[in-house]
Order: sequence, then structure tokens, then C-alpha cells
Amino acid sequence: MSHKILGNVILKTINKNDIAKCKTSMLVILVNKNTKNNPYFKSLDTASKGYISSSMEKKISEAGKSLLLPKIKNIAAENILLVKDYEPKDELHKWLSNYQKICSIANAEKCSTITFLSQNHAPEGKDYLWLLETIAKSIESNSYIFSETKNKTALKPSIKKLEIVAVDSSDVSPVKIRNALNKGFAIGEGVNAAKYLGDLTANHCTPKIIEKKVKALKKEFSNLKISTFNEKDLLKLKMGSFLSVGKGSDEPPRMMVIEYYGKKSKDKPIVLVGKGITFDTGGISIKPSPAMDEMKWDMCGAASVYGVMTMLARLKANVNVIGVMACAENMPSGRATKPGDVVTSMSGQTIEILNTDAEGRLVLCDALTYIKKYKPSYVIDMATLTGAVVVALGRHASGVMSNNQFLADKIIESGEEVGDRAWQLPLWDEYMSCTKTNFADIANIGGGREAGTITAAAFLSKFTEDYKWAHIDIAASAWYSSPHKGGTGRPVPLISELILSNKLK
Ligand code: BES
Ligand code: MN
Ligand code: ZN
Repeated sequence: MSHKILGNVILKTINKNDIAKCKTSMLVILVNKNTKNNPYFKSLDTASKGYISSSMEKKISEAGKSLLLPKIKNIAAENILLVKDYEPKDELHKWLSNYQKICSIANAEKCSTITFLSQNHAPEGKDYLWLLETIAKSIESNSYIFSETKNKTALKPSIKKLEIVAVDSSDVSPVKIRNALNKGFAIGEGVNAAKYLGDLTANHCTPKIIEKKVKALKKEFSNLKISTFNEKDLLKLKMGSFLSVGKGSDEPPRMMVIEYYGKKSKDKPIVLVGKGITFDTGGISIKPSPAMDEMKWDMCGAASVYGVMTMLARLKANVNVIGVMACAENMPSGRATKPGDVVTSMSGQTIEILNTDAEGRLVLCDALTYIKKYKPSYVIDMATLTGAVVVALGRHASGVMSNNQFLADKIIESGEEVGDRAWQLPLWDEYMSCTKTNFADIANIGGGREAGTITAAAFLSKFTEDYKWAHIDIAASAWYSSPHKGGTGRPVPLISELILSNKLK
């Protein structure tokens, strides 16, 4: 299933003298200090007899402010939307908020085509191609509206087409512009795929339903190799830890592996592993009721793997990447794992499950052992792993912990580049003692209330000693709680940037 909202992103060539004749639902102009002198703007303003520039001066003085001018005489565009641009020195998140604003206005006005007069005015350190990629990505991902489980009140995004008039492109080749737009569009679609899987409720998104969706990718993308593992396969692989999580549920667990080899050379792949708990009740260590519905998003790590892999396949990217989705439902029942139970992981290490609510690490550790066979160059897991990261960093940054500083640096750098930020927490030896127990090789919790995000990563690190690995805790960044509840698709933008810009050479 495609998760595209826009049917197309088009690089439109139009003469400055014809801009007033440009038919579109909404012509978007980000207003900065150079706008008034831009030949396209001048031509448009002249057609409006100076109405646009005079409205602009009166009504939008502050960055982020917008002004919608409908039905201007002599101008073919149904609406002109002016949005005051930020300054190059302003923070990236502010710049990105403008695109969000544009999409919500366009959807509210039921616009089907939006046309950007895109000028070369970007945040500090970013170039015009970055800007074009960002417009395509942001418009695609911000057009998203979830309505799958609505019937009578379903609302569909109105935006169908994005046109870019690259008005300042004289020194950039059209091929590069086209590539930047394609890249942004595909990443935006990957973000939407991740949001969509996350937003689906747990009864509409069980491990088996995810398996079906992953298998269906084969039809759309012949360049993906898909394998899926059911509970019997997991047993054969001796994944006692993974299996222990799904034991209380009537919905059996599934592991999906998506392989993408886009490089001709036999380069070692990057492996992505995602936590895919389709619902986390906590199991026998049951969670309190308030906000428990949010645990439908406990599969956002796996959803991000899905989003990134489909993006790579669509772009036919020149990289080798393998994505693993470790899916299970964590429920209490007569068959559920009990606190104190000891299970044997695929690695051979036994685990005392002191808290059945610390289940993410139990599915991840076996998936992280399984992927050793690929001799990965780098391994990154993404997981809504701990409530503690919500406290530590809040929603603005995902938490990164790694056994390789180069990898951690590149993850953080990529997040900065695209406004999907991550922040590092230490993974020192002192934190490792927390997994000690008298009854098994390790326990799945430890350390009490201290540093819960790090102790979870410390547990995982006992399974990742053979390769370069980073863990991204996305428990706070993967979705918004009230009032604008919904998946964010993070960290698809970060991971896409990391992989596509070949930072891990
Ligand atoms: N899925 C949760 C983490 C979570 C909690 C994400 C709240 C977002 C919001 C995870 O499986 C979990 O329950 N973790 C426990 C670990 C604890 C038992 C050591 C937690 O964070 O409380
Ligand atoms: Mn849990
Ligand atoms: Zn969980």
C-alpha cells in the first residue's frame, strides 16, 4: 500500500511574465528581505496593482505569520498565501513549522494544488537543494490526515499536487533539483507510512496484520526481499526471550525481515531493528489505565523500519540496508510470562523477567542476536523503550546510546541536519551492574528508578558486543499525546538522512 498523499511533486518551469496566469489552488510565497526584488514576485505584484506588496507590509511583520489573499483580480491562482520567512540564524524547528502551517491552511481551504515560488533563502549552513528537499518532504508529511478508522466523519487531505517554481535556480542543475525533490517526496512518504502504522489501533494492527502488510510490499517493490517468521520459526531459532513476550496474547508474534541491496558491490549492510509491540498492557506487571491507549504506538520502532525500507526501495537508493521488525502483543493471561520467570535468549544467555512491562528489550535482544549473520557494518535499533526518556528529554529529542562514538555522532549530526534531533546519554560500564541477578545470567530490569533509559540500553548492550551498534529510544518522540494525538513518523527523517547521505562510510 502506498502512503503517498501527493500524487506528484513537479518542478514547474514558468516564465516570470506568466506567473500571474499560473492556475493553482494556492500560490505560496515565503516572504523574506529579497522577496520584493524577486522578478517573479514583481511580476505578480504588478498584475495585482501593488495589492500584494501593500497587504504584505501591513499584515505580516513577524516571522511565522501568514496572510491568505483569495481571488485577486488579474491573478489566476485561486489564493495567494504569504508566509513570513524566518532568518537564516533562526532555529530549524521554526523554519519547519512554517511548512506545517502552510499544509494546514491548504487542507482547511480545500486546496488541491499548491505551488511554491521557492526562493534561495535557507537556514544557516543549508543550501538551496536542502530547501527544495525539505519543502517536498514537509509538504508530503504534513498533508497527512489519519482517517482509516473513521467512517461518517472521515476527513481526507485535499492537497494532491505540489508544484515548485524554483525561481532562484540559475546556478543549480535541473537534475539536482529533480533529485532533491524526489528524495524529499520519498522520505515524506516514508514518514507517512510510519505514522499510519502507528496510528492504526491495536485491533487493526496486530503482528499478523503487519506481516500481511509487509508481505504485500513485494508486489509494489520487486527490489525488496521479504521474509517473515511465525511463532514456530522463532522457536526454531531459539528466541525464548522474544517468544516470552507474546505468550499471554491470543495474537501470535511475528518477525519480519526486509532486505534491500541497492549497491552492486557486496558492501556489508546497515541493519535497522525496530521494536514492534502492537499493544503493551505491561503484561502481568500491568500498567495503570490512564493513557494506556497510547501503547498502540509501542510498535513505532518497527513502523519506522517499514517507512525507511519503503523509502529506499522507492528511491532505488545506492545502499545495502536490512530492516527487522520484531512484533508481538504484550498481554496478561493464564499463559502469560510471570515476574521471576527465567527464559533462554537466542544468544544462550538466560534472562530473569522481573518485570513483564520491560518487554521491548526482550523482543529486541533476540532480533539483535539474529542479525549477526548479516555481518552488519552498523546496527541501529529504534524503540519506544522507556517512559524514563520522556522524563529525561521530552519530545524534542530522541535518546541515543551507542557502543561506537562515530556512529552516535553521525546519528546526532543527521538529526540536526533535518530537524529530527537526537541527544546522547552515556552507556558507561558503571550502568552495567544493574542487570545482575541470582537466578539467571541477567535480569530484564535493575537500578530501581535511576537512569531507566540507560539501564534498558545496558541490557541490550549485552547482545550487541560483536558489532557497532546504537540504540535510539523514541518513546517520547514517536507520537504526540493530547491534544494533537498522533504518530510523528520519527525517526524516519533522521535515519533517511543518515543512510542516504552516506555518512557511515
Ligand atoms: N512501552 C513502554 C515505554 C513507554 C512508556 C513508552 C510510556 C512511552 C510512554 C515500555 O515497554 C515500558 O513499559 N517500559 C517500562 C520499563 C520499566 C518496567 C523498567 C517503563 O518505562 O516504565
Ligand atoms: Mn512495557
Ligand atoms: Zn513497551
